[in-house]
Amino acid sequence: MKIAITGKGGVGKTTVSSILSRLYADEGYRVLAVDADPDANLALALGFTKKEIDEIVPISEIKDLIAERTGAQSGSIGSFFKMNPKVDDIPERYCRTLNGVSLLTMGTVDTGGSGCVCPEHVLLKRLTSHLVLQNKDVVIMDMEAGIEHLGRGTASGVDAFIVVIEPGVRSLQTFEKVKKLANDIGVSEIKVVANKIRNKEDEDFIRDNVGDSLLGFIHYSKDVIDSDRNNQSAYDADLNLKEEIKIIKNAIESSVRNDS
Ligand SMILES: Nc1ncnc2c1ncn2[C@@H]1O[C@H](COP(=O)(O)OP(=O)(O)O)[C@@H](O)[C@H]1O
Ligand SMILES: [Mg+2]
Repeated sequence: MKIAITGKGGVGKTTVSSILSRLYADEGYRVLAVDADPDANLALALGFTKKEIDEIVPISEIKDLIAERTGAQSGSIGSFFKMNPKVDDIPERYCRTLNGVSLLTMGTVDTGGSGCVCPEHVLLKRLTSHLVLQNKDVVIMDMEAGIEHLGRGTASGVDAFIVVIEPGVRSLQTFEKVKKLANDIGVSEIKVVANKIRNKEDEDFIRDNVGDSLLGFIHYSKDVIDSDRNNQSAYDADLNLKEEIKIIKNAIESSVRNDS
C-alpha cells in the first residue's frame, strides 16, 4: 500500500501520517514513513527524541551520497551527471526505526522556481520513484501540497492520494489546487480526510464541498494539541482519534480494492 498525504500547511498531514504509519506497524507490516515535506517534522510526530532528530540528516543534504551516486557535486547545475543513480540501498541505510516504523527524511531541493535539474533533485526523484514502485511494503508519504514533481510514472504507483482538509475555505482551496496538479500528472482520483471537526456544522460544510471523495472525519482534539505541546506522539495521546483514523484506513483499503 502506497499512500501520499498532502494538503495545506497546518491541517494535520503529519499527525495523520504518523498515526496511519503506527496503525500499519501494529498489524505487523513493515512501514516506511517518508517525510517529503520541506517543513519536515514527521520524526517528532512519530515520537523520536530530540537527540535522535538532531542527528537526522535529510537525504538532500548528504553531499557525499549525492556525489557518489550521481557523479556530480550537489548544487552543480549544468555539469554532467547520471540521470539514473543507484538508490535501492538508500532506504535501508538511511532510515531510522521506532515502534516498527522506519522513517526516511528526504529534505528539500531549492529548485529556484522552474525545472531545476541538479544532482540532488535527480537523486530525490529517483528515490521517490523507487519507494513507490519497488518497495513492497507500506509506504506513507507526508508531503507538501505541491505534488507535481512526482511525475506520471511515480504517481501511477501511488494507491491513494489523500488531501487533508479542515472545515474552512482556505484548505478547500488547496484541495482544489491539488486536484488540478494531480490531474496534470495523470491521477484521476483524490481522496479527502477532514480533520479538526468540531460539530455537525463542520461536517455539513465538508460534505457539501467534497462530496463522495470523503474518506472520513477526524474530530478536533484537545489531547492532540496537548501532546504536541508536550512533544508526545499523537498516537499515544488520544484513543478516539486513533479509532477514527483506523476507520479512515479501512476506507482507504476498500476504495483501493474497488478500483482494482
Ligand atoms: N484533530 C486535531 N485536533 C486538534 N489539533 C490537531 C488535530 N490534528 C492536528 N492538530 C494540530 O494541528 C497542528 C498542525 O498539525 P500537523 O499534523 O503538524 O499539520 P501539517 O503536517 O499539515 O502541517 C499541530 O499542532 C497538531 O497537533
Ligand atoms: Mg507537517
